[in-house]
Amino acid sequence: MVRINKNFQKLQGSYLFSTIAKKVNEYSGKNPDKKIIRLGIGDVTLPLPPSVIKALHTAVDEMSEPQSFRGYAPDRGYGFLREAIIENDFRKRGCEIEADEVFVSDGAKCDCGNIQEIFDTGSTVAVCDPVYPVYVDSNIMAGRGGEFLKEEDRYSDIIYMPCTAENDFSPELPDKVPDLIYLCSPNNPTGSVIKRQDLQRWVDYANEKGSVIIFDAAYEAYIRSDDVPHSIYECKDASKCAIELHSFSKNAGFTGLRLGYAVVPKALIRDGVSLNDLWARRHSTKYNGAPYIVQRAGEAVYSAEGQKEIRSLVDYYMENAAYIKDNLSKAGFSVSGGTDAPYIWLKTPDDMTSWEFFDHLLLTAGVVGTPGSGFGPHGEGYFRLTAFGSRENTKEAVDRIVKVQG
Ligand code: MLT
Repeated sequence: MVRINKNFQKLQGSYLFSTIAKKVNEYSGKNPDKKIIRLGIGDVTLPLPPSVIKALHTAVDEMSEPQSFRGYAPDRGYGFLREAIIENDFRKRGCEIEADEVFVSDGAKCDCGNIQEIFDTGSTVAVCDPVYPVYVDSNIMAGRGGEFLKEEDRYSDIIYMPCTAENDFSPELPDKVPDLIYLCSPNNPTGSVIKRQDLQRWVDYANEKGSVIIFDAAYEAYIRSDDVPHSIYECKDASKCAIELHSFSKNAGFTGLRLGYAVVPKALIRDGVSLNDLWARRHSTKYNGAPYIVQRAGEAVYSAEGQKEIRSLVDYYMENAAYIKDNLSKAGFSVSGGTDAPYIWLKTPDDMTSWEFFDHLLLTAGVVGTPGSGFGPHGEGYFRLTAFGSRENTKEAVDRIVKVQG
């Protein structure tokens, strides 16, 4: 008899953003004339930059000629892209990362979900609370969660590190030593950041205890503050304890194109084994590489023109973030994030739960956000808005919220 992986049955409901999409679609099905503004899922709205489009066209043409056609990509990604990555994302920042430590993929979400596979199923996992649900769910699927405690809205074996207004939404070192520690800075969902000296403290802790940090840097392009590192490898000895994940989605608009990369340093040894070798083995077995044309598009992001274009793309979203933050705080909301991140984290008014506020905004203002409780128990009573909408929709959404709530 076929048995299923029972760990999947421990997952709570559907994936957060699928639940929201279902609710919103039902609502707009019943109210077809109402204009709904979606500031829920962190999906970009501006088109791909011109240099990326140009690179895509050129690469498509190459694929039509026998001399320039490409089949399977190299396991870890094309050299042209990995060289551009290490030069721009690491060497320029003084980080000593080499091309064979970079693994190109079809996006950070897959890497976030898959990276846990190279660790023992008995490994203990620490996550921020609230947290991007993929870190938790992928570990539950692998059997690391223990039981779901309904009353407490959490899994018994996951170590939750509360990120609250009291600690400025920044995680503190846990009481119990975890094997794997997921950190995300700039943070999804709270929009908070981990400052240089705090991140160094995490690195020192992981090196001392033998833990591994999975550092999600998907939002690094939004950092404006000088004392916030763009990469964990800016910290001393981070290559001995950290894996870093990057995305082209939020900085260059690749949410629909799909491209990302993981850095697994060769100095990262656990259980006597090189994690770089292990990830290389896993990657080459289960993955045949991001498409050639998409890797060429990724390379174009690092050209001088591409860099200029993505800077203006990120600036545009940051202006949205400032508009949301300023106007909601003027209207009396308690708001954080949005200065080094494209997410605004707000306290729900009138002691509403996150889902109550979600329903309230949808019904009265026609605005969709993400309920904080969907990111973990300490997200209850909070709500996330993204800055990835168009300027027009962002302003209209904020004005509508202020009108119904201000
Ligand atoms: C989010 O809304 O949290 C993001 O879109 C998640 C993601 O990038 O997968």
